Amino acid sequence: MSTDLSAPSHLVSPPAGSRLWQRGFVFGVGTSSYQIEGAVDADGRLPSIWDTFCDTPGKVLRGETGAVACDHYRRWEEDLDLLQSLGVDAYRFSIAWPRVMHADGRPNERGIDFYRRLADGLAERGMRAFVTLYHWDLPQHLEDRGGWLNRELAYRFADYADLMSRALAGRVAAWATHNEPWCAAYLGYADGHHAPGHRDRRWGTQAMHHLLLGHGLALPALRANDPLAQAGIVVNVAPGYAATDADQHAAAQFDAYQNAWVLDPLLKGHYPEALWALWPGCQPLVLPGDMETIGAQLDYLGLNYYSRAVLKAQGEHGFDWVNDPQVERTTMDWEVHPQGLQDILQDFQRRYPNLPPVYITENGMSSDDAVQGGTVDDPQRQSYLKRHFAACARAIDSGVDVRGYFVWSLLDNFEWAWGYERRFGLVHVDYETQRRTPKRSALALAAFLRERAGR
Ligand code: FCB
Repeated sequence: MSTDLSAPSHLVSPPAGSRLWQRGFVFGVGTSSYQIEGAVDADGRLPSIWDTFCDTPGKVLRGETGAVACDHYRRWEEDLDLLQSLGVDAYRFSIAWPRVMHADGRPNERGIDFYRRLADGLAERGMRAFVTLYHWDLPQHLEDRGGWLNRELAYRFADYADLMSRALAGRVAAWATHNEPWCAAYLGYADGHHAPGHRDRRWGTQAMHHLLLGHGLALPALRANDPLAQAGIVVNVAPGYAATDADQHAAAQFDAYQNAWVLDPLLKGHYPEALWALWPGCQPLVLPGDMETIGAQLDYLGLNYYSRAVLKAQGEHGFDWVNDPQVERTTMDWEVHPQGLQDILQDFQRRYPNLPPVYITENGMSSDDAVQGGTVDDPQRQSYLKRHFAACARAIDSGVDVRGYFVWSLLDNFEWAWGYERRFGLVHVDYETQRRTPKRSALALAAFLRERAGR
């Protein structure tokens, strides 16, 4: 591990005088269990839908899997030291459900102990734990019983939340029930790009309903077991811009599909009508009381922001993406559009009068990073972060209550269907040797955080 923490802070630092410079503003980095842990057979871990998906030919680029990943399950202490060297206030990680519960619902203490050690190790190093319960690695045996299409799973999820919030009570600053229910429901059940790989729109909306119901059912357990922690959810969002004035409706339809599908039920207590114009007849089965459960008050809302969409009208109800070949992009082919972060935060502030305090729970980018001469220079990431921090600062100046910012990701890791090719880490991982090398963006972030701490 390189110990040279010498990149200048100005490469990433937020605008002088902005709230991001205040010590109370939480800076952190994020990861998720399946993307970094590896050790898929250790300590009684059960198979997850991502193990199955990876083992299915054609689903993941180059046939890669999370079986070893960053070997974090064994190297967690080294990784916590790395986090500490960055000087972050908090670490956002997720719990692998298949590690902590046996198939009959009994706790798997060996798996639970891993997360106890992790949370304690963070506290010993002066960092706070932001814990996500579901970052997509559903136990396969639950998928075998219908997965998120089975209403029963919402109740099993609440049991899991109850178990983990008892086990980690007092060690967690903030709980998130789900990470990006949009991806779990849409990519997993409607479009097939993610595990479990189903392709049916109607299934997508039903899976979403049960994910959100599980969230609502889990909240009371989190609050009862760990009253000092915040309880919320993490949602991926993207602003939709009309390509021309004639495409306003297309942009509105995109917004219903991408943002309002998740945020309206959480913050308004109903699904957006525009979604059923886009997908006629795809309404999920909703039982009396469900929407009240889903719409329960949140302590915070986590927003993951990466890019925007530009839309044109397509057909009677729909929209299509317009891809300008001239704009700056990342190796995910995602457009770099920092202004979108400010726009969407201000837009949500207008649309949802009850918008809770916000954390940016993910923001970052992938690039082709290589170690050269013992270091990794990643100028696009440095500039990306600096521009997005500035956009966040502008949103805060305009009155949006943003309390923290988590860069995705601590480490290069298993980027789902794209395997290991797309490198999102602040820290480079050599998958042959498991050697970690902080990229220049990491060193600059550390320098900024040291400067902030010294004020
Ligand atoms: C988000 C996921 C995260 C990672 C980033 C790049 O959708 O939450 O696991 O894959 O994208």
